[in-house]
Amino acid sequence: MKILICGVGGRMGREVAKLALDGVRDATIVAGFDVVPLDTREFPTYTEWSAVNGEIDCIIDFSHHTATEALLNFAKQNNIPAVIATTGHTEEEKSNIIEAAKQIPVFHCANMSLGIALLVELAKTAAKAFPDADIEIIEKHHNRKLDAPSGTALLLANAIKEIRKNAKFIFGRSGQAKREPQEIGIHAIRMGNIIGEHEVIVGTDTQTITLKHEAHSRALFAEGALAAADYLCGKPAGLYDMERMISED
Ligand SMILES: NC(=O)c1ccc[n+]([C@@H]2O[C@H](COP(=O)([O-])OP(=O)(O)OC[C@H]3O[C@@H](n4cnc5c(N)ncnc54)[C@H](O)[C@@H]3O)[C@@H](O)[C@H]2O)c1
Repeated sequence: MKILICGVGGRMGREVAKLALDGVRDATIVAGFDVVPLDTREFPTYTEWSAVNGEIDCIIDFSHHTATEALLNFAKQNNIPAVIATTGHTEEEKSNIIEAAKQIPVFHCANMSLGIALLVELAKTAAKAFPDADIEIIEKHHNRKLDAPSGTALLLANAIKEIRKNAKFIFGRSGQAKREPQEIGIHAIRMGNIIGEHEVIVGTDTQTITLKHEAHSRALFAEGALAAADYLCGKPAGLYDMERMISED
């Protein structure tokens, strides 16, 4: 599988490159792309989409949400599937992703880890089993993370909302108002070097259930992105995610 890594100079881009250079998923890096010029021996790196050439089977993107539009234009022009692992997209950027998926296969998921896909399922099961419980989500990340709350916290909240249709999201609660029964509180903690922790707390008057996922290494997301790229190659146009990939495997 021949890949292009967008955001190749960043923490996640470098992880994907490391795994691909080790031959994970039989991946070969055709090119890297970043706004910051990069000097790599193993593959060429571009700063302009118009300069990119070579045969590419899939693009893997861990960059910045503002990069998505140009990336998808390039992918559509060249009919290349794209794994968008970047988070923090605006509503307009999300609509662009949905539109692009009508022309090319696009994998878009706020969290590329299998463990988080499982956490999502467990959170939905808990919300179903305890319809009146209070549910709060706490996420913790390193102090360099740009978006808050994390895309994964929103992924979890939206999955719970599929079960609790009238749930209302409250971000970083403050002020005088009392908690409403159907609120889902979402709280972001930023400190040190935490790779990513997500906790879903389900509490009734008599018990509390805590579902928690901790990422120990960024390699976990890079592995997931390469698995997603492998899965996406040869698929028809459409929007794919981890839940769909796992259910089809
Ligand atoms: N889906 C997941 O599982 C998952 C996991 C980890 C990180 N992420 C997301 O991936 C993204 C990158 O994370 P990171 O920790 O590697 O960040 P980072 O800041 O270390 O790296 C981002 C890289 O993207 C480059 N970049 C910025 N704007 C660009 C543009 N317009 N075009 C091309 N390149 C551009 C930067 O120069 C940098 O090299 C973030 O949105 C983060 O939230 C997602």
